[in-house]
Amino acid sequence: MAETRRFWGGWRERLAALRNVPPVLRIVWQSGPLVVALGLVLRLVSSLIPLAALWITKLIIDGIVHAVSSHQPVKPVFWWLVAAEFAIAIFGSFLGRTIDYLDALLADKYTRHISIQVMKHAAELDLTTYEDPVFYDRLERARVQATDRLGMIQSIGRLVQQVITAASLSVSILLFSPWLLLLLIAGILPAFLGESHFAFLGYARNFRQTPIRRELDYLRVLGGSREAAKELKLFGLKDFLIGRFTRLSDDIYRENVDLARRRLIAGSFLSMIGTAGYYSAYVYVIWRTVTGSLTIGTLTFLTGAIVQASGNIQQIFSSLSSIADQALFLTDLLAFFEMQPTIRSKPNALPAPRPIMRGFEFRNVSFRYPGTSRLVLNCLDFHLRAGERVALIGENGEGKTTLVKLMTRLYDPVEGQILLDGVDLREYNLEDLYREIGVIFQDFMRYEMTARENVAVGRIDEIDNLPLLKTAADKSMANEVIERLPRDYDQMLGRRFENGVDLSGGEWQKIALARAYLRDAQVLILDEPTAALDARSEFEVFQRFAELTAGKSALFISHRFSTVRMADRIVVLHKGRIAEDGNHDTLLNLGGRYAGMFEMQAANYR
Ligand SMILES: Nc1ncnc2c1ncn2[C@@H]1O[C@H](COP(=O)(O)OP(=O)(O)OP(=O)(O)O)[C@@H](O)[C@H]1O
Ligand SMILES: [Mg+2]
Repeated sequence: MAETRRFWGGWRERLAALRNVPPVLRIVWQSGPLVVALGLVLRLVSSLIPLAALWITKLIIDGIVHAVSSHQPVKPVFWWLVAAEFAIAIFGSFLGRTIDYLDALLADKYTRHISIQVMKHAAELDLTTYEDPVFYDRLERARVQATDRLGMIQSIGRLVQQVITAASLSVSILLFSPWLLLLLIAGILPAFLGESHFAFLGYARNFRQTPIRRELDYLRVLGGSREAAKELKLFGLKDFLIGRFTRLSDDIYRENVDLARRRLIAGSFLSMIGTAGYYSAYVYVIWRTVTGSLTIGTLTFLTGAIVQASGNIQQIFSSLSSIADQALFLTDLLAFFEMQPTIRSKPNALPAPRPIMRGFEFRNVSFRYPGTSRLVLNCLDFHLRAGERVALIGENGEGKTTLVKLMTRLYDPVEGQILLDGVDLREYNLEDLYREIGVIFQDFMRYEMTARENVAVGRIDEIDNLPLLKTAADKSMANEVIERLPRDYDQMLGRRFENGVDLSGGEWQKIALARAYLRDAQVLILDEPTAALDARSEFEVFQRFAELTAGKSALFISHRFSTVRMADRIVVLHKGRIAEDGNHDTLLNLGGRYAGMFEMQAANYR
């Protein structure tokens, strides 16, 4: 009962999924209109070839039978028929090859087009979107769909061809006897329904398995990654990882085998019905020929037509079923394209102020991450004035990085307002706002690209301006790191690509810092930019930072009090609010959290 309900429920879902086909056809069309049009025309022509070939064969055989039985030579037109048969065979194979060629072209164009669309769209989505595992599954499936190149397009092209071929053959069979056609279709229908049912189960299974497959992928990557290799070895994690991988993949394997087995049994039985239908039709035609109501030529024609029509009708059903299934997968792709970012510029958004006069102001700001209940920031008030250098401190997890993400409008607050020069951040043009901010996050990117590119990402349109890049790199002390490399600015960094050179944590950090200096931004934000630097480097970096940010607003987060002291103002974040605010001396005298943390660190040096 439940099985039946699932069966029909499955069908509804599959038919509903067919509404995905038109938008995807549109995407296919956009990726190469000329190729699509040409392919269609050729398929139309090609789909009539089987009928023509069969008909000519019939004429030839009837000609031969007539000549043999009447002991007369064949007429000259007979040889023209033979020539025509030959020409059609050659033409057909030429058409087939050309269609394959066009399909391959289209597949490349489509993959390219859709990959670019996916990248474009992914780049526009909110950061929060990326923290949602459901989104990841969807993106994953969308990606697979995007690169599963031939499937859908070819199925549709073939379907067009199969429908026309089957229709033309069926009409010709129908002209001889409607019963023949009925027999054929009745035989094929059960197999079609069965196949579709299993195809749907297959989709449901893939859907269910996505999270497990994601974990498997992760384990596989982890097991072979350079980053993890050190810990895997020293902690002896090999068996742990392999064990988990084996367990998970065994589950998937068992499920797959089970389905494949059921499909095999049901499929064999159902296709027997089809074969029975086909042979009944065959027997009927032979009987009519033997009793003299059909010529031998017609016998050949009909048996050929029956074989090909039944083949084509079967294929129509399986193409339809595979299109319906692929269309289900497309749900993910289309849903992905339909996701809209909420953080975006309003129409007629304001340009960012230049120069900034009053700075950033958090008013009663609360924030929680989507899908969580804890308020990370709770009715927080904070002011970063223009031209002021503020150090933000607080223990791990107090929300320092979160505050930076809000200030740079990667997230919007759930309550309260963030103002820039008295105007809500949401009123500003987003790109314009981003341009005024140079920020280096704790988890900054290590691009597996050249040193030059690694610096230039801070302001990618200046990538050819090497002197400018060098100046920025000089400010962050990255220049000396890069000049020590074998190919200095053209040195490939990271180990992914050939000739890549890896850097130490501190060296990477200096390069990331150069990006912030490269930006012609009015606000600089550094989230623990010096955590991996040695004492001398840190001292120098901050001395330069102090000089370089003169007149700019700067916010930096650090756990080291030697650097924190250099700030004009120190702000302590605790329990989602600003707990203390003042310069080093005031806060020490206050004897609160700052003083406590400072004493603790200082005690270690005595
Ligand atoms: N993407 C996220 N989704 C859900 N919760 C998050 C996310 N990022 C951070 N949090 C939570 O928000 C809190 C604040 O995190 P945040 O990274 O802002 O702390 P932090 O003060 O920068 O800490 P640290 O000194 O370790 O860098 C933490 O408790 C963390 O668990
Ligand atoms: Mg942080």
